[in-house]
Amino acid sequence: MQLLTLPPSPALATSIRATAQVFEDPKSQALLAHLQQVAPSDASVLIIGETGTGKELVARHLHNLSARRNRPFIAVNCGAFSESLVEAELFGHEKGAFTGALSAKAGWFEEANGGTLFLDEIGDLPMPIQVKLLRVLQEREVVRLGSRKSIPIDVRVLAATNVQLEKAINAGHFREDLYYRLNVVSLELSPLRERPGDILPLIRHFIAEYSHRLGYGDVVLDAEAQRKLVNYAWPGNIRELENVIHHTLLICSNNLIRVQDLHLSKLRIERQEASHTVQDDSADARLQQAFLKLFEEESGALHERVEEALLRAAYRFCHYNQVHTASLLGLSRNVTRAMLIKIGELVVNKRRPAQDGQGVKVVNLST
Ligand SMILES: Nc1ncnc2c1ncn2[C@@H]1O[C@H](COP(=O)(O)OP(=O)(O)OP(=O)(O)O)[C@@H](O)[C@H]1O
Ligand SMILES: [Mg+2]
Repeated sequence: MQLLTLPPSPALATSIRATAQVFEDPKSQALLAHLQQVAPSDASVLIIGETGTGKELVARHLHNLSARRNRPFIAVNCGAFSESLVEAELFGHEKGAFTGALSAKAGWFEEANGGTLFLDEIGDLPMPIQVKLLRVLQEREVVRLGSRKSIPIDVRVLAATNVQLEKAINAGHFREDLYYRLNVVSLELSPLRERPGDILPLIRHFIAEYSHRLGYGDVVLDAEAQRKLVNYAWPGNIRELENVIHHTLLICSNNLIRVQDLHLSKLRIERQEASHTVQDDSADARLQQAFLKLFEEESGALHERVEEALLRAAYRFCHYNQVHTASLLGLSRNVTRAMLIKIGELVVNKRRPAQDGQGVKVVNLST
């Protein structure tokens, strides 16, 4: 069972929760302003965002900025339970209500009474439970399984989803009436890659937090490592960033984070490639993908590498003909020739064996 309450001390939490938060990018500032506006009301809020974008943190923040702040905050993952279990857990049960119900138990609604109930992964809630949930929200009372007595409840419900519920509604997996009930206000959390202004402040925030926890002194992030972190696409969003920093601090030495200490997932590249094939197959888009891939790999002298690779490929494509290569690239013959010499495709005045059969062309300047 997964019942999470606001930890009494941040030291007990597995990650840094709602202690200090970063909202620096203009998008995040706008979200924070919206959050502060709606927090004091009792309105239901639907929080939408990819995995790791901070949905639970936002829910806790809404609770902490409301008049319910000193009352319970109960977070429940609706996707983590079977249908019968989630029903008993949400609404509670009397002793003997079903096999195994050895004693009476209050449900999450009762536990959260006077406070806030956060229903995470709401899209995973089975349809029959959705009907019951809607009734509880409308009537503001729960009836425990195996009981006839209704118990009045005063609970603010916040719900979160990482999928577009409209799609689930169209597919017949989510009730439209429940959706409107939950979605009085919606807060949409952008993926981290769409709010780049948050990346560096988050990096600094997690370095400070984790180096403090680990009892390290000041930790320095070198420029190359910083560049790599800032340019990375963060498919797992803030949660991934937090884990990367934590892991990096464990393996870095001398309180210095270097690029080789960073282990970033290649997931985003693959995803981009997969989605790209259906969306945009123009030459520019393909080039863009190739560049992205390069940026995420070890960088360094990238301009030179790209220029060199382009020249070599063009020269080969034109069967080692300098004039054709120059016109393909839109360069003058002299410039092309100078560049080919520079990268070793043309060897001037020196006889040297070709490297891979016909790779290097030997030119005699006197001819
Ligand atoms: N604005 C922020 N500033 C600082 N830390 C943040 C911020 N947003 C999220 N975090 C941290 O990132 C981690 C992930 O956040 P959270 O658990 O709220 O995301 P989530 O959207 O619920 O993720 P999941 O979909 O995986 O459940 C947490 O440790 C949280 O404290
Ligand atoms: Mg979550």
